[in-house]
Amino acid sequence: MAEAVGFSILGAGRIAGKTVLAAKHLAARGSLRLRAVGARDAARAAEFASANGFEKSFGSYEALLADPATELVYVATPNSLHAAHAKACLLAGKHVICEKPFATNEREAAEVFALARERGLFCGEAMWTRFQPSWRAIPGIVATGRIGEPRLVEASFAVPVANKARLVDPKLGGGALLDLGVYPVAFAIATFGENPVRVAGHAVVTPSGVDDQSAFSVEWEGGRFAALSCSMSAAGGARGRLVGTEGSIELPELVRCESLRIVRHPGIELETMPFPFACNGYEYEFEAAARAVRAGLPECAEAPQSATLAAMRVMDALRASWGVRFPAD
Ligand SMILES: NC(=O)c1ccc[n+]([C@@H]2O[C@H](COP(=O)([O-])OP(=O)(O)OC[C@H]3O[C@@H](n4cnc5c(N)ncnc54)[C@H](OP(=O)(O)O)[C@@H]3O)[C@@H](O)[C@H]2O)c1
Repeated sequence: MAEAVGFSILGAGRIAGKTVLAAKHLAARGSLRLRAVGARDAARAAEFASANGFEKSFGSYEALLADPATELVYVATPNSLHAAHAKACLLAGKHVICEKPFATNEREAAEVFALARERGLFCGEAMWTRFQPSWRAIPGIVATGRIGEPRLVEASFAVPVANKARLVDPKLGGGALLDLGVYPVAFAIATFGENPVRVAGHAVVTPSGVDDQSAFSVEWEGGRFAALSCSMSAAGGARGRLVGTEGSIELPELVRCESLRIVRHPGIELETMPFPFACNGYEYEFEAAARAVRAGLPECAEAPQSATLAAMRVMDALRASWGVRFPAD
């Protein structure tokens, strides 16, 4: 078995507290070594590290990146800081897996990927859904012909998180689209490809200047179409389905997706397929990143850099049409 990859966390916030369970799961199986936690506050970094079995902690990101045993850094800071933090990791010679959205716009994302290529380092987006066994099973189900020819993606993610300061602050890359809408966008791109021909939408914009909720469409050649929405003020959860000429694949949970339902028109339930997580669902992205690092690969096939860029392009076009601008635009 390959040697465990020295895994460190940059930013000990909410998502780091959730994903660390998966990192621990992989450490117990020998693919990750829980190396270090870097936070802006040394006491908090130390507390997080000792609570979760990391070897070291650092009270600054710079100190973390100077750690020679850190190989792969998981960037878990607010959206607007992803590009700068990912670049700092790469300049320090570290491989990077960065939370979604990978950056605030396509230009930032492309700059980070270019730097990774230049340095010969792995770099990818922690778009955890693309790594989940359920999402990965969809092309195989489509290939059986059970839903006919795929024509339409419908997906929505609505969670009332507008009370979090980060989400309403344009300086931190706030808004529903980048935090929540990014999943429906990723689902549509995973389904129909990275070259849509048209994007259109409408958003309700907050007084602070970010999108609160929106509905939007993306179209591909041949009239394949995605009808998508997101909201940070409504409590609807995450749902999705891929509809073909003869039936659909339903994702009762689009984001935490542990089952798929195959439905044949008109409303005949053919099968429910279970895809239970080994841990909490974040294990697949970290495992794939560790494998890529050991194999010397620049990216993961499950979530290629080109898919991240395609999603950023769609979101850039939508934000431009809504007048939602970030400092990096
Ligand atoms: N994959 C998922 O399921 C999922 C779910 C939720 C969020 N996310 C993504 O994860 C990222 C972090 O979200 P979160 O909900 O964990 O946010 P959060 O709780 O606010 O944590 C972000 C962390 O970033 C660090 N940070 C550095 N500079 C900061 C600044 N100027 N302002 C605020 N924080 C700063 C802080 O860590 P230290 O003080 O410890 O250094 C903070 O704890 C976002 O990109 C979000 O889209 C992913």
